[in-house]
Amino acid sequence: MSESILAFATSLAEQAGDLIVEKRISSSLTLSYKKDIELVTNADIAADDFIRQTIKEHHPNHQILSEESNPDMQSIEHIEAPLWIIDPIDGTVNYAHHHSQVAISIAYVVRGKVQVAVVYSPFQAEMFTAIRQQGAWLNDQPIRCSSESQLGKALVATGFPYDKHEKLPLLMSYLENILQHCADIRRLGSAALDICWVAMGRLDAYYETVSIWDCAAAQLIAQEAGAKYGHFLPVPKNVPEELHPENLLITAPALYEPIKKLLLEAHID
Ligand code: IPD
Ligand code: CA
Ligand code: CA
Repeated sequence: MSESILAFATSLAEQAGDLIVEKRISSSLTLSYKKDIELVTNADIAADDFIRQTIKEHHPNHQILSEESNPDMQSIEHIEAPLWIIDPIDGTVNYAHHHSQVAISIAYVVRGKVQVAVVYSPFQAEMFTAIRQQGAWLNDQPIRCSSESQLGKALVATGFPYDKHEKLPLLMSYLENILQHCADIRRLGSAALDICWVAMGRLDAYYETVSIWDCAAAQLIAQEAGAKYGHFLPVPKNVPEELHPENLLITAPALYEPIKKLLLEAHID
């Protein structure tokens, strides 16, 4: 079952990838803003529509939560049927600025746990996949996270929310402590790829607060590649841990506790 879901999800991601590459090459992009601050393009909407319609055709009884379909986030932990969590373009700002760090993220969830994950980077032709308890792959080759254990050598990724202004003191406090003790920081612009890059060792750690569609697929890929996944602040009791996208910390195993300590030291209530 998982293999056929993975084949279906991979094909969806490839087709959505072709769609967004084609839209950018043909210069038919239109830009607008959600809530005045969050960039969205006609390609985000088209890819979201394509993925949702295709899932509905093949799996009419499954539920779908996608970023561009105005999901009802109140009910996510009560969904019983298999659930697809979709980010049609993760890295929209990169996409609109003609950068290549852009992904399509597709997670297949059963009873609060991600079972199958696909994160596809179409401009880099990199397909990250995972099946729970079976492993993680990049273009069909098994991947492992880095074995870095020294904070001073750790390359750490993070990101900043669109509505960042009132959160800046906290975000800067985290950043300052990480920069004081780790090798360097990267802000690459796609949370899903940041996490996949931890999974395959291009990065040693990642922390951020995002939305569930940014991280649902990539966190399984990271866990299956041996990375440590968790949260540096407590997870609310009624939410499955894998569906809580706030205060994420995903690292090479030996770096988890030291980086958690840095973030907690820097935390401001
Ligand atoms: C964004 C990216 C970014 C992260 C933001 C997300 P979007 O997703 O993942 O890296 O820092 O918080 O909103 O808007 O491009 O789908
Ligand atoms: Ca996103
Ligand atoms: Ca998005």
